[in-house]
Amino acid sequence: MQTLSTTSLQVRENQLWILDQQALPQEKIWCPTPDVATLVGHIQALRVRGAPLIGLSASLLLALLAENGMPKAELAAALEVLRASRPTAVNLMNNLDRMKLALAQDNFVGALNTEALRLVAEDKALCNSIAEAGSVLVKPGSRLLTHCNTGGLATAGVGTALGVIALAHQQGNVANVWVDETRPLLQGGRLTAWELGELGVPYKLICDSMAASLMAQQQVDAIWVGADRIAANGDVANKIGTYSLAVLANYHGIPFYVAAPHTTLDRSCPNGAAIPIEQRDAREVTGVAGSFGQVQWAPQNASVYNPAFDVTPAALISGWVLDTGVVAPAQVAEGIFQPR
Ligand code: MRU
Repeated sequence: MQTLSTTSLQVRENQLWILDQQALPQEKIWCPTPDVATLVGHIQALRVRGAPLIGLSASLLLALLAENGMPKAELAAALEVLRASRPTAVNLMNNLDRMKLALAQDNFVGALNTEALRLVAEDKALCNSIAEAGSVLVKPGSRLLTHCNTGGLATAGVGTALGVIALAHQQGNVANVWVDETRPLLQGGRLTAWELGELGVPYKLICDSMAASLMAQQQVDAIWVGADRIAANGDVANKIGTYSLAVLANYHGIPFYVAAPHTTLDRSCPNGAAIPIEQRDAREVTGVAGSFGQVQWAPQNASVYNPAFDVTPAALISGWVLDTGVVAPAQVAEGIFQPR
């Protein structure tokens, strides 16, 4: 396969490399990813993360395995193992459905290669379209709040919600970005803060619990988040903590926007209650781990509830900013996301 490089994925020496998003920003470590077990490990440890990136990494690995001689039947089994690696972000399933069609062809090696590269190129273009559609909604002098990480690290391009923010900044309309640290795995504190710093966008990092008082003080003009799955009724699964922001935004009369590519839309999923929510290891809540080591503050064997995502009902969303344009609540109510 030709060499390829995005913020957090590379193909070189006919192998997939991923930028370890658990080590960032303290360390920039590129991990070789030669086989399915290694990629599943990276995905489950969130070294590879973000809805679009998970699907792209799985697709690229399949194409590389095919090129390196893996037989068709083994590729089909590998595809299903990758599909099951994380349950909530539907981009993985959508991308792998396309790879499955490529695998069914006689010339499956060439077809998988073409399809994986096409998915990467498409994701880049989708990010640009989302940024263009969304930046129109950002008023001059905006103080925006974002949650989790939705930037170049999580996609093949400029990102989704963070791509909107970056473009709005280039257009001179962003006064400040409030960055939720995003407990428990700190994608905001580690990754979004790093990306905004690299982009030169002014930001202030806050603990998640500080957002409410900022809104009460009228210091937030709009909230921008990404999505892991959008159901047919417009409900959105995204990083845990998103729902509480939406409730707060509604109470304070602040616009709440969801930015995502159409690959995040699941028309077959009727509503948020039908979205599978990943439950994660208790140790993420009882302490913290990183390139600095591991610390535990909770009692040994503390009983823990650790869902990775929550569901924001459509009624709390001001606009779904897709690559195809901004979808308004009335359009969602009329069924624009329903099965065609
Ligand atoms: O658990 P993560 O870090 O993969 O969760 C990521 C999110 O919830 C993002 O907001 C979402 O995937 C959109 S990324 C463009």
